[in-house]
Amino acid sequence: MKKLVVFTGAGISADSGIRTFRDSDGLWENYRIEDVCTPEALARNRALVIEFYNMRRRELDRVKPNAAHEAVAQLEQWFDVEVITQNVDDLHERAGSSRITHLHGELRKLRSMTNPDLVIDWPHWEQKLTDTAPDGSLLRPHIVFFGESVPMFDQATRIAASADLLVVVGTSLAVYPAASLVHYARPDIPIYLIDPGTPDLRLIRNPLTHIRKRAAEGVPELVELLKGQL
Ligand code: APR
Repeated sequence: MKKLVVFTGAGISADSGIRTFRDSDGLWENYRIEDVCTPEALARNRALVIEFYNMRRRELDRVKPNAAHEAVAQLEQWFDVEVITQNVDDLHERAGSSRITHLHGELRKLRSMTNPDLVIDWPHWEQKLTDTAPDGSLLRPHIVFFGESVPMFDQATRIAASADLLVVVGTSLAVYPAASLVHYARPDIPIYLIDPGTPDLRLIRNPLTHIRKRAAEGVPELVELLKGQL
């Protein structure tokens, strides 16, 4: 089976009703990154940061995977699929994808403030300010804040380098190091991009097919195209 790597961003979850970051009315038009998504913000105003992620976790209980997440999961019937996502939602998991690398963390997990390796599942939507980890320390969202390292990046580069085909869905390719993943793919492999907009394609030197559609329409369409090439 050919190795197919799917690299996703907020745009794949847009059709589930989850706002993206940089589109009009995106998350970063309504919140300042320095107030809710930096280690300094967590130190300076813990309540606001915890509430921001509580609000996003609560939103998860109201949405479900869309046709794009489901089509990505279906690809596992014909390809050796790995998903690398920048998204912190659990929609790829809920759609049935079995191998997912979260580059920027996961909403449904929290971690110890003193031991970053102590990560716990958090099935509730609300984290109370006083909730503690098994080691007794306070908890924080298991999210990669701006300015923090991206522990899963090395693993993601190895996955990207192993791809025979790369599918990029719903990312502006504006945030590093995540965006540089397209550069780790072998330069000869085909890249399929699904996005109604125009991400930053400067790093892409591969044969590129841009399907200018919303993910919920474009990803199922791509699955049919790829199946026809088997
Ligand atoms: N279907 C497909 N793509 C879409 C759709 C849709 N329905 N709606 C919007 N898009 C595209 C936009 O054109 C854009 O290219 O999704 C992309 C969204 O870009 P961003 O909002 O920048 O999201 P993303 O690329 O995932 O951001 C990367 O930035 O803030 C950090 O950690 C955060 O993981 C996030 C990272």
